[in-house]
Amino acid sequence: MGQNQSQVEYWNSTPGQKWIRFEEELDKVFEAVNDQLIERAQPIKGERIVDIGCGTGATTRAFAQRLGPAGFVTAIDISEPLLSRARGRSSEVLASTDYRLIDAQTDTIPGDLFNLVVSRFGVMFFADPVAAFKNIRSWLAPGGRVVLAGWAAIDGNPWFEVPRDGAVARLGPPDTSDPNSPGPLGFQNTNYVTSILAKAGFSDISAERALTMLRHPGPVEAVAALAANIGPSARIIKKYNGTSKDVEEITAYVVNEFRKFESDEGMLIPAWLNFFSALNSTPDRQ
Ligand SMILES: C[S@@+](CC[C@H](N)C(=O)[O-])C[C@H]1O[C@@H](n2cnc3c(N)ncnc32)[C@H](O)[C@@H]1O
Repeated sequence: MGQNQSQVEYWNSTPGQKWIRFEEELDKVFEAVNDQLIERAQPIKGERIVDIGCGTGATTRAFAQRLGPAGFVTAIDISEPLLSRARGRSSEVLASTDYRLIDAQTDTIPGDLFNLVVSRFGVMFFADPVAAFKNIRSWLAPGGRVVLAGWAAIDGNPWFEVPRDGAVARLGPPDTSDPNSPGPLGFQNTNYVTSILAKAGFSDISAERALTMLRHPGPVEAVAALAANIGPSARIIKKYNGTSKDVEEITAYVVNEFRKFESDEGMLIPAWLNFFSALNSTPDRQ
């Protein structure tokens, strides 16, 4: 059994498949994160790109779109249902995309080396992050780069904080765990992540905590249903075997709290994210 077996089970079962159920809403809310990744990565035509933990493929398509018909993006994930949904949407972009069931911590990607590795919220789940990033570095050509997005701490991040508070009030506290342990908030500590990248052999490592506005046309109910069903609140609901009534009450709490983010342009939710970038200056596989 692989070290990431619990994540494989999670992302292939009902909780992970919420990323399909709420796909439309998620794609809208997190589109701004793709923009941020593209701005930081500056992909250029002809580059070979990997998207780690691609889910239903929104980031893969955003990069592929940016590269045009000559582009090539390999998207990897440990969840077959999410990959299959992403594959089904590959004709939406002209660039060539390739979706593979691959564990980023342990598996090789056959074929030529890559120029750029990107990930939107897909690299915080490794049981052994140093081993994972050593493996990821082995896919990169010399000079290849990684550009990653993760969540900053929950405090001040209403996207997670509000549903978490609603779930705690209704059901009880989450399990106490190491803040760096694998999960949606596993990359909240920038020093921890930069030390992982350094131990994995990357150079020119940088980390930036940046404010991003998440956007959604509304109504608030659609956004609240999504927020209450993923991330830390979903994990509390799972811990206490929450009923549909509990989920309804938590969602009502989120609706109420999220009303303050309604604007003439729809919902505008401030989010603190951590962006990391690094280079592979030493070739590993030649
Ligand atoms: C929070 S979701 C993000 C999905 C997608 N990047 C997005 O932003 O819509 C995390 C994704 O990482 C994937 N994942 C978790 N551990 C992984 C691993 N070891 N190797 C590859 N993918 C992994 C999950 O299956 C899931 O699709």
